[in-house]
Amino acid sequence: MRDKNGTITPVKILGIESSCDETAAAVVEDGFRLLSNVVATQIDIHAQYGGVVPEIAARSHIEAINPVIEKALRDAQCSWEDIDAIAVTYAPGLVGSLLVGTLAARTLAILHDKPLYPIHHVEAHVYANFITAQTETLEPQLQLPSKQPDFPMLALIVSGGHTQLVLFREHGDYELLGQTQDDAVGEAFDKVAKILGLPYPGGVSIDLTAPEGDPNRYALPKSKLASPYDFSFSGLKTAVLRAAQREVGKDFTFPSHELSGLLTAKQRKDFAASFQRVAVETLVDKAEAAFRAYQPSAVVIAGGVAASQRLRDELSARLPITIEYAPMKLCTDNAAMIATLGYYYAQKRAAADPYSLEVVPSISMAQTAWATGR
Ligand code: KG4
Ligand code: ZN
Repeated sequence: MRDKNGTITPVKILGIESSCDETAAAVVEDGFRLLSNVVATQIDIHAQYGGVVPEIAARSHIEAINPVIEKALRDAQCSWEDIDAIAVTYAPGLVGSLLVGTLAARTLAILHDKPLYPIHHVEAHVYANFITAQTETLEPQLQLPSKQPDFPMLALIVSGGHTQLVLFREHGDYELLGQTQDDAVGEAFDKVAKILGLPYPGGVSIDLTAPEGDPNRYALPKSKLASPYDFSFSGLKTAVLRAAQREVGKDFTFPSHELSGLLTAKQRKDFAASFQRVAVETLVDKAEAAFRAYQPSAVVIAGGVAASQRLRDELSARLPITIEYAPMKLCTDNAAMIATLGYYYAQKRAAADPYSLEVVPSISMAQTAWATGR
């Protein structure tokens, strides 16, 4: 940012995220330099119920939000004077959860007279890949990419709520190429883990269990869809359930929640490995088809399932391009990605009115490109 004397000073953005079950705040400088990254997770609380309970999530955000924001400022060694703008997740997510972060951001923007930028959570996941190691960061052990991805950029976004392929021509100028027609891939990981009796969150459990199993033990189907870039994971999940019911000698009416007790440890590992192989292959097949059709300069993966080592290995093996992956820690929900996207958004868009910014629980990236210029 250039002041009235022409001096260039770095731009520091405070990001705030509370769309699901993590309360997070972070400070990012100039759209790439990570100054702080605080995440208060509720995983332990929701694990007792086997999934996120919206009312409990909202209540936990209320307890955590102020200390998390204060810690993010402290860790970044920033006072409010140092912060140039606030970026907050306004969509999509659980309504009660989104409200907590958005109301905190609105209040702070008014109180400290800062511009406020509304950020789309799913789009922001992609921006974990824009946090780089161009200078030293607060956590030297974080393996950050050496440089930012080039445009045009193909993004495979794989989270608990979304599975989509998006082609970015520039910041804010993107096209949704395809998406899941039913379950998101992370949701399929979570549901299959539940069938197998593995702990929540299922993606992590399957990632840990699968390497001990035989990925070819069970023949599971890949869905066939009219569009080459669309996905479907509900059939795969059901195929695991049916195969598991058969394996323990029960018919299809046998309840899924009673299955895990009858499976042996070996069967559990083989199911985890076979499911993971087909899920990852499906993602990579589609990403490869989009890569061949659009010839992007960079490919990134984003969202919680991007933390899967098997997905990373298989994508790198199949695509004729070097991919620098974001650290696992920045793939799952965090506010650093919100602050990073906020930096680019602020260059092209006016700030929101802090007195009236509303949350939007459901809005697709097919509707949210903000700098198309066409
Ligand atoms: O992006 P995220 O943190 O939250 C949403 O915005 O949805 O994604 C959460 C999803 C969960 O379904 C979780 O099971 C999955 O990411 N996940 C993984 C791994 N770590 C988290 N899936 C596969 N492998 C992993 N290592
Ligand atoms: Zn997310």
